[in-house]
Amino acid sequence: MVIDRTAVIGFPVDHSLSPIIHNYWIKELGLDIKPYDKINVDPNKFEEQIKNLKIEGYGGLNVTVPLKELAFNISDKTSDVSKKLKSVNTLSLSSDKINGDNTDAFGFINSLDKKTIEENITNKKTLVLGAGGSARSIVYALNELGSQVRLFNRTPEKARVLLNDLSVSSSLVSTEELDDYANSSSFIVNTTSLGQKGGEHNNILSFKNIETKTFIYDLIYNPKRSSFIEQAEAKGLKVQNGLRMLIEQAAISFQIWHEIKVDVSNELMSLLESV
Ligand code: ATR
Repeated sequence: MVIDRTAVIGFPVDHSLSPIIHNYWIKELGLDIKPYDKINVDPNKFEEQIKNLKIEGYGGLNVTVPLKELAFNISDKTSDVSKKLKSVNTLSLSSDKINGDNTDAFGFINSLDKKTIEENITNKKTLVLGAGGSARSIVYALNELGSQVRLFNRTPEKARVLLNDLSVSSSLVSTEELDDYANSSSFIVNTTSLGQKGGEHNNILSFKNIETKTFIYDLIYNPKRSSFIEQAEAKGLKVQNGLRMLIEQAAISFQIWHEIKVDVSNELMSLLESV
């Protein structure tokens, strides 16, 4: 069945870049469907608004904060990864049921070069900073890639709950241990909101004695070069921001709805870098 109307829902959703990505592919492929929209959905009226969107003809919805758990709860059928994360970022609405999927973890995996996975992740020690919704997907993904994941969060209890929910064998890192663990990690990911445009700088790590072969990944893409990335670059480390993951998770959603595998072209990357 052709899905004619798609959109991203969130609260607020105004800054989402998903329409640029999906509409680029819709145009590139010449699909005869409506442009991808962005729609604010009030968490307190979630079910009612989803029903209305279905009546209006929406067949595919991407879900962003703070609605991913609600989307999981209303799904009749969910993928294995969504069940594990208890979170849904891709809804497919058909006449009789709602399917829920989560493309964040595999979007993250697809955003990585094969060489980085081999040299810095699989069978290597990695460190995740933060224990919010996005950290869940990253810990899941790194564990899938066979990494020995360690987790640090300002509020340790939240990190403990995350590890318990995901049942991954990973160690919890305290503030005192953080720099030592960072120095013995070959891949470090920032999933905290620190460093986002207009917010506080990310000074969680000192970057003192950090190994030069360590790969630094920041999920933040606005700004393109966060304070975390800047500190890593000053040390000569390899870095990556969250832009490619954003596109890769969108590509999986696009494939779920339209059954078309899309490429992440340099043109699309440049388009988003210029926003
Ligand atoms: P997301 O869904 O994008 O992951 P989130 O669930 O709000 O967002 O999580 C934000 C993360 O950033 C959390 O790990 C949070 O730490 P706490 O669990 O201690 O709140 C982290 N974070 C936000 N501000 C921070 C700060 N000033 N210092 C350290 N960590 C911070």
